[in-house]
Amino acid sequence: MRGHSGSSIELKSEKIPLSLRIPTSDDILTVVAILSNKANSEFDKSISATPPDELEAIATKWTVVTDPPTYRNFLVLHNEEPIGIAGFGWIGPCTENQAADDLSRAGAAGVIIQPPARGKGLAYEALRLVFDYGFRELKFQEIRVGSHSGNVPMWMLMERKFGVETTKTPEVDRFGNDLLWTIQRTDYVLQS
Ligand SMILES: CC(C)(COP(=O)(O)OP(=O)(O)OC[C@H]1O[C@@H](n2cnc3c(N)ncnc32)[C@H](O)[C@@H]1OP(=O)(O)O)[C@@H](O)C(=O)NCCC(=O)NCCS
Repeated sequence: MRGHSGSSIELKSEKIPLSLRIPTSDDILTVVAILSNKANSEFDKSISATPPDELEAIATKWTVVTDPPTYRNFLVLHNEEPIGIAGFGWIGPCTENQAADDLSRAGAAGVIIQPPARGKGLAYEALRLVFDYGFRELKFQEIRVGSHSGNVPMWMLMERKFGVETTKTPEVDRFGNDLLWTIQRTDYVLQS
């Protein structure tokens, strides 16, 4: 697996002054501040249970773009100001028993928007850019979004704004998520 700095990867909204870019080493403290803000991890055990020094290691890892990708996370900027994070925390085979020569891939997507920037449609636009990127550039077969059923904003975002129906999972995942949205490549309409 190769790794390099991802500074050339930028996703730009054509509708609003919103852009997503791979964090650089200069962004590590900004990313850590977003991840360690308790208001951002109320429903996300993957972050809230992680000690601060590990958050820095995570942020540092995100500055490196691996090929083939195993994750790809972006810093979200609105009017050039960092307001959150969006991307794929996990990228891997579509099924556990997938044949080694079957290169079809799935990605687990997520988004965090800092509290002052919420409720303005910015999470929708950021996640839409991430979905488009996953299907167009990373050629995913499937994108999954997991969340906790107490997370009403995320639920509304996925169901009302993206129009994706929830699967209530009988098995809660290791991060406490009991909701799963699955978007198939064949069902997704690229927006940009
Ligand atoms: C989930 C999150 C990204 C949503 O951000 P946002 O900026 O509010 O999202 P948007 O404005 O694009 O859309 C949210 C939608 O949910 C609605 N909504 C938000 N809170 C709601 C509530 N308590 N009840 C009903 N609807 C609600 C909004 O009105 C909006 O829909 P609308 O535009 O049709 O009115 C944000 O709350 C967040 O960062 N939370 C912490 C991190 C997290 O839990 N991320 C999800 C895990 S992947």
